[in-house]
Amino acid sequence: MRWKGLIEQYGEFLPLTNETPLLSLNEGNTPLIELKTLSDEWGIELYAKVEGANPTGSFKDRGMVLAVAKAIEDGSTTVICASTGNTSASAAAYAARAGIKCIVVIPEGKIAQGKLAQAVMYGAEIISIDGNFDEALEIVRELSKTESMTLVNSVNPYRLEGQKTAAFEVIEGLGEAPDVLAIPVGNAGNISAYWKGFKEYSQREHSSLPRMFGFEASGAAALVHNRVFPQPETIATAIRIGNPASWDYAVDALKESNGHIDEVTDEEILDAYRLLAKKEGIFAEPASCASIAGVKKSLDKGVLEKGTKVVAVLTGNGLKDPVTAMEYSPVQPVKLPNDKEKVKDYIKGTIGV
Ligand code: F0G
Repeated sequence: MRWKGLIEQYGEFLPLTNETPLLSLNEGNTPLIELKTLSDEWGIELYAKVEGANPTGSFKDRGMVLAVAKAIEDGSTTVICASTGNTSASAAAYAARAGIKCIVVIPEGKIAQGKLAQAVMYGAEIISIDGNFDEALEIVRELSKTESMTLVNSVNPYRLEGQKTAAFEVIEGLGEAPDVLAIPVGNAGNISAYWKGFKEYSQREHSSLPRMFGFEASGAAALVHNRVFPQPETIATAIRIGNPASWDYAVDALKESNGHIDEVTDEEILDAYRLLAKKEGIFAEPASCASIAGVKKSLDKGVLEKGTKVVAVLTGNGLKDPVTAMEYSPVQPVKLPNDKEKVKDYIKGTIGV
């Protein structure tokens, strides 16, 4: 059967009514890929849930399809969100698909080029503020209370409802839940959504439950240190968030699952970013790689045992942020004349084929 997207695929798990439009960009059904090289090197069974394969290149599409569908069901004609980039790209796409207006508020200079390009192309109204994501979220939360606009950040409960479907796919892909689900944490919506998904699936299908391992960037590690970071800073701009909106849900997920929360430095994130692309052929955006960096750190610390079955969530596509890739990639194009012999000499002499 042709995949028709999450609302049709997982409708029985979602808060739908007869009036909910069957909005879809065929989101979901993303690859679960075994990371063979890293598994061998690290002595674990490691898989990646490649959420960058969603229609706008991030996991946000899972929640956004439902949030926008429910907004339409409720008669809304405008959606609004704050974003570090991916939420705005996704909101803009689904609003375009549904024929409604989308307004996005972003932190000036701190969103990756590809994400901004998406919002522009999908026709969103873009407001850039001289402030961070947490401040942008505060503004849109307030505005959505008084103005006739639907807030589609993950404080909108339909976002987490949609995002929980990723947990279903992980179980269906593996045939069981993994021992550990490793995931980057920013606003803490996704870790909360996965946990909800695992619990609901387990109630219905008697599947086991994983331990939830969340990883924040060191410069934005509110949950790890149990305090707000008023000036969050990290190269992984997607998770440059100092006061996570789903803080309490995430703490519950960690407690209930006997989980683990830790921080990873920008250097660890960049190492994982390069490693994943080079050793596994998977190009994920920097924030996504906090999950892989976190797995490595947990192994080094002994928090994660050898032989464990781990699924690391890769939340967004590497193509979203070409500037970081080019800046931190060791390989840069070599310029040669337009001359076959010179190209051949280089390939034989320097590359050594
Ligand atoms: N990874 C990526 C690529 C993200 O874009 C985000 C969040 C996260 C991880 C963290 O997920 O917030 O549910 O804990 N991006 C949001 C945005 C904040 O505006 O696109 P979370």
